[in-house]
Amino acid sequence: MLKSLSLLILSLSFFIIRTTATPYPTGPLKPVFLVTTPQRTPSSNSSLLHSVSATCLFDPYHQPNFLLRLTGPGYGSLPNFTLTDGTLHTTIYNFGPPAMGTFEYNSTLVLEGQELQFLAAPQGKGNLALVGGYLLAVDGAVEGWEVCVEELGQSVVSLWKSGDATCNATYIQAVTTPPY
Ligand SMILES: *[C@@H]1O[C@H](CO)[C@@H](O)[C@H](O)[C@H]1NC(C)=O
Ligand SMILES: *[C@@H]1O[C@H](CO)[C@@H](O)[C@H](O)[C@H]1NC(C)=O
Ligand SMILES: *[C@@H]1O[C@H](CO)[C@@H](O)[C@H](O)[C@H]1NC(C)=O
Ligand SMILES: *[C@@H]1O[C@H](CO)[C@@H](O)[C@H](O)[C@H]1NC(C)=O
Repeated sequence: MLKSLSLLILSLSFFIIRTTATPYPTGPLKPVFLVTTPQRTPSSNSSLLHSVSATCLFDPYHQPNFLLRLTGPGYGSLPNFTLTDGTLHTTIYNFGPPAMGTFEYNSTLVLEGQELQFLAAPQGKGNLALVGGYLLAVDGAVEGWEVCVEELGQSVVSLWKSGDATCNATYIQAVTTPPY
């Protein structure tokens, strides 16, 4: 009796460890803002993150895929994001082709050497996660994000553009209140 009870407790604690050890949230998340910072540890006040930048979406040539660019103080409003099934979602107004209006944009599979991109189309399972609940990761890796000067002189977020001297390594943190 005692033996089976301790076995039950053992298997129960195993179950609890297994369930609480799930490293990345995959379910619905309350909306967050994405910021870039060379600092890995979070701050309860995003303004206090080292060299923090807010981010917003842009499509430099009215292309279908939006990119994530840095924006300084004085922005009007910032897009917020949720993460489900490895994919980021944000709802924004598109001024240009293919259609004007408010759409839900979804992140595409993030690939090395490419920008973080968003399309107004359903996406399959993505490869993004929030490690520790706040560090944006690709296939579990939080390192690899870079900020590079790209189209129209904007600083754009991409994954590994190494070799390009204008790129700076960064972390992407999910924060509940925007900086500045
Ligand atoms: C966050 O930090 C900034 C800069 O120090 C400060 O101005 C602001 O009041 C802080 N916000 C909160 C909610 O504490
Ligand atoms: C998130 O963005 C949506 C769409 O722009 C907006 O309606 C909503 O109020 C925003 N939520 C927060 C917490 O900023
Ligand atoms: C983005 O993905 C969601 C579900 O993953 C889907 O409901 C939505 O329609 C997609 N956005 C567009 C514009 O297709
Ligand atoms: C990279 O960092 C340097 C030094 O802080 C800065 O002058 C430069 O503008 C940064 N480049 C980008 C793309 O953010």
